[in-house]
Parts: sequence; C-alpha cells; structure tokens
Amino acid sequence: MNEQPAVVARGLRKRYGDLEAVAAIDFEAEARSCYGFLGPNGAGKTTTMRMIACAMPPSEGQLDVLGLPVVGNERRIKARLGIVPQEDNLDEQITVVENLTTYARYFGIKAAAILPRIGELLEFMQLQEKRERKINELSGGMKRRLMIARGLLNDPEMLILDEPTTGLDPQARHLVWEKLRTLRRQGVTLILTTHYMEEAAQLCDRLVIMHEGTILVEGRPRELVAAHTSRQVVEVFDPPVETEKDLDKLSGLADRFERLADRWLFHTDEGDALLAKVRALPLDPGSVWLRGGTLEDVFLSLTGRRLIE
Ligand SMILES: Nc1ncnc2c1ncn2[C@@H]1O[C@H](COP(=O)(O)OP(=O)(O)O)[C@@H](O)[C@H]1O
Ligand SMILES: [Mg+2]
Repeated sequence: MNEQPAVVARGLRKRYGDLEAVAAIDFEAEARSCYGFLGPNGAGKTTTMRMIACAMPPSEGQLDVLGLPVVGNERRIKARLGIVPQEDNLDEQITVVENLTTYARYFGIKAAAILPRIGELLEFMQLQEKRERKINELSGGMKRRLMIARGLLNDPEMLILDEPTTGLDPQARHLVWEKLRTLRRQGVTLILTTHYMEEAAQLCDRLVIMHEGTILVEGRPRELVAAHTSRQVVEVFDPPVETEKDLDKLSGLADRFERLADRWLFHTDEGDALLAKVRALPLDPGSVWLRGGTLEDVFLSLTGRRLIE
C-alpha cells in the first residue's frame, strides 16, 4: 500500500508585512520518515514548522498535513501532532511531572491514563529520576528531553522538532538522536530543523537546504553530498606566506578553491594526487589534511560562509 505523504507543500508562502519569510516552496515528506530542514538563521525554517503545526496559516499555496489541508482542519491535525518548539517553554516554577500533567489535561487525556503515560515517557527519555524536580533545576539537555516527552504525550503520528539539539553538549545531543531514531523506527514521522549538518546527515532520510525563504536543494543526504561537492577536500591550515605563489598554482588543479582567513581548501575528486603536490611544498605536514566531502561543504557552498545573526 502506498501511504499518503505526511506533509505536502505546493507554492507555499508566508509573508510578514513586506517580508516574504517563505517564498513559494514545494516539498513532500513521506510518512514514517525523518524529513529535515537545514538552513542558516532567517532561512524560514521556523515559519515553515509553525505553518505545518497549524500555529499560523499560510499566506498562499497548498499545505496538507496528515492528508488534510491545514486551513479549517487545525484542531483535527493538532490532535495527531507532537510539537517541540525552538524555545523551551516549560513552566520553570513547577516540577517535571506537574508540567507534563498540565499538558496532558490540555490534550484531554483521561485522568487515569495520565500518570502511567507520563511514567512511560519519562522512562523513555531517561528522566524518571527528575520526576519531582523543578524545571529550573534541570540542565539544558534534560529540558530538551522533557520537551520531547511532552510532545509525545498524545501519542502523535508525527513529531515536529524545531532545532531539537541546539546548544546541547555532544553527550546530550547523541542521546536525543538515539531517541529520535527509536521513534522513527516505531513509525513516527519526524519533521525537524537543524543547523547541524551532522545531525541532518545522521537522522534525516531526506532533507532540504533552505535559504532566504526558498529551497535550494532537496534529497537524501548522501545524494546531496555526491551531487554538490567534490569527493574530497585537501585543507591547508595557516599556510605560510612564502608558499602563497605555489599554492596559487595548485589551486588551478582543484575543481573549486576556497581561500579562508586561516585555511585554504582544495575541492577535488583526485584528493591523493593533489595531496602529493601540496605535500611537496615546504609546509608543516601537520597543517595539511585530506578529508571526504560532507554535507557541511554542500551547505556552505550553497548558502555562503557569511555569518548571519
Ligand atoms: N512573527 C514574525 N514577524 C515578522 N517577521 C518574522 C516573524 N517571524 C520570523 N520573521 C522573519 O522571517 C524570517 C524567517 O524567520 P524564521 O522562520 O524564524 O527563520 P529560521 O527559523 O530559519 O531562522 C526572518 O527574516 C525573521 O526575522
Ligand atoms: Mg528558527
């Protein structure tokens, strides 16, 4: 059976006054997959998530979520969704279990079912020991996990996560990834935004790279890497001034050459050959490095290295 897509967007737009935050995007997220939105700040990721979550209507275009057009079906759709917004919005003054209870009531979960469900979710997110703690006693990683637990209270078919791991340390991030992979295996559709390339590469079946309200590319992470980067990159850190002339000559041998403040990058499909030439120069061998092309290279070549704050 061909299951209908979890989200379908056609010519989807959102304007805030004169600003077009989402400018006619098209995408289709398969049910039971993890679909990612990668992009720098201001790309329009949160705006897109909020429209999918029925928190605000599109300005124009088609948006179907779980088989229903969003406009007019907000309540029906919301009942089947879990939402983990970009900012934690837990009530800091009350405990973990009180936060979840309040939310569960809001979803109309039967009183007798609330505590068992909370117990299950705290165990799943490895928070059972924090059950009676106030929110302001939790670490950033624990709060994020609690936000995910809260998003799962109504046993949603689809979970929308806006930057689920921003600001977390690597341990906390890996734990969140593990839980998201488990949910995905259980058949929950995941829609997530991130600006961590590794997160997108690890979790997403397919992803889009957004920039200034538009979708630049769409595909499987590995296909995007294959299509939009060279196979390999030779990096030279802090190249000494006297090698500048030689490196300039070598740059012509690369498919693409980037000169950054502290590094030179040779993008090439013939990494070993280029590496041998670079190594022949009077350089500290420790400053030369050959690596594979990554999603980060795709991202930076498409959206630029300019810092957006
Ligand atoms: N409520 C709002 N009113 C006006 N402009 C907004 C609002 N929310 C977001 N924007 C603007 O829309 C653009 C996209 O924002 P957003 O969707 O939050 O991007 P992202 O999540 O990718 O960082 C930005 O230029 C942002 O300043
Ligand atoms: Mg955002």
